[in-house]
Amino acid sequence: MNLFDVYPINDITIVKAKGSYVWDEKGEQYLDLYGGHAVISIGHTHPHWVKRIEEQLEKIAFYSNSIRIPLQQQLAEKLGKVSGKTDYQLFLCNSGAEANENALKLASFHNGRKKIIAFTKSFHGRTSLAVSATDNKNYIAPVNESDNIIFLPFNDEDALEECFGKHGKEISSVIIEGIQGVGGINVAEESFLKKIRSLCDKYGSVYIADSVQCGYGRTGKFFSHDFGGVNADIYSMAKGMGNGFPVAGIIVAPHIKSKHFQLGTTFGGNHLACAAALAVLEIIEEEKLMGNAVMIGKYLKDELNAIPELKNVRGRGLMIGFDTPDELKDLKKNLLWEQKIFTGEAKPNVIRLLPSLGLKKRDAEQFIESLKEEISKVHSAESQTLNAKTV
Ligand SMILES: Cc1ncc(COP(=O)(O)O)c(C=O)c1O
Repeated sequence: MNLFDVYPINDITIVKAKGSYVWDEKGEQYLDLYGGHAVISIGHTHPHWVKRIEEQLEKIAFYSNSIRIPLQQQLAEKLGKVSGKTDYQLFLCNSGAEANENALKLASFHNGRKKIIAFTKSFHGRTSLAVSATDNKNYIAPVNESDNIIFLPFNDEDALEECFGKHGKEISSVIIEGIQGVGGINVAEESFLKKIRSLCDKYGSVYIADSVQCGYGRTGKFFSHDFGGVNADIYSMAKGMGNGFPVAGIIVAPHIKSKHFQLGTTFGGNHLACAAALAVLEIIEEEKLMGNAVMIGKYLKDELNAIPELKNVRGRGLMIGFDTPDELKDLKKNLLWEQKIFTGEAKPNVIRLLPSLGLKKRDAEQFIESLKEEISKVHSAESQTLNAKTV
């Protein structure tokens, strides 16, 4: 049997990982500023995370949600403490798409409405509703096409106000990433998040904060939406939550009440997933990783801003993006193959940095040095071609 070929891949086999580094089967070391797509929050194979999972594995890995699983309550309490949302309610599932699917569905159960507002360049996942609310036609199968989704321009307060003015009482929810990831690192403005809050309050709609990529401390606040200074009704989370162990969830504001059987899952909240998620929160707290994300993020942004070839450096904490001009179109590839550094991208010309929140200053410095070296190589190649032409 062959694999179903859904992604173009880099011809690299990673066999070992530690902190912000990974190694291939030939022993070649790479600096990982991509974190397997923003998943590695506390660093690869963090010893506390490994120990927590191993110890749990010896006891019990899984039982269904038909029995008490005290680890879930422990996780809820810890998550409440670290995120500051102590009075929210936790529902656990397995992936980011599933978290958003449940958030959108719960909003609709709550207010009995069908319409969803989503934004240009949004990405919310591949399942039915989540993909319908994703602004990329290539991902939407005919069966996912829906008249219930209204796409509005990102950060456009007037368009939002006008839409609520027309359809307010039909709007079930508004879903927004605090910083769009797949869309190219676009930061939601604080006033825009405030506007969403006030319109949702006015019309009885649910504000859903998709924190799958931008959450879990990556920006220096636990949820990047907190920069808006208002609370969302539901936050979805995944990626960094398990540091690579598949675990996801939503937290739900107290005024939204649960009803038996509306939401459910077989694997969500299993013992092993809870142990992994607890280990992540313990390390985020103990190693003050949100503070580190702010500090290293600032260093990186300052340095990137000082490189004239790179345009529009943006983002928060350790979720950073910048545009590369045409002559640097191979920069990401060259960083990987020449400098052994993994970075992320967003089409057509954005490089995305999504490293572990524990990224060390010396690794950030190494990245900046390597980046400058690759840029200067392009310039010397350009001047050689020019010289050859004039000769
Ligand atoms: C903002 C956002 N939401 C949802 C998802 C979907 O998460 P998953 O791939 O775990 O289903 C992603 C994945 O990249 C994402 O970036």
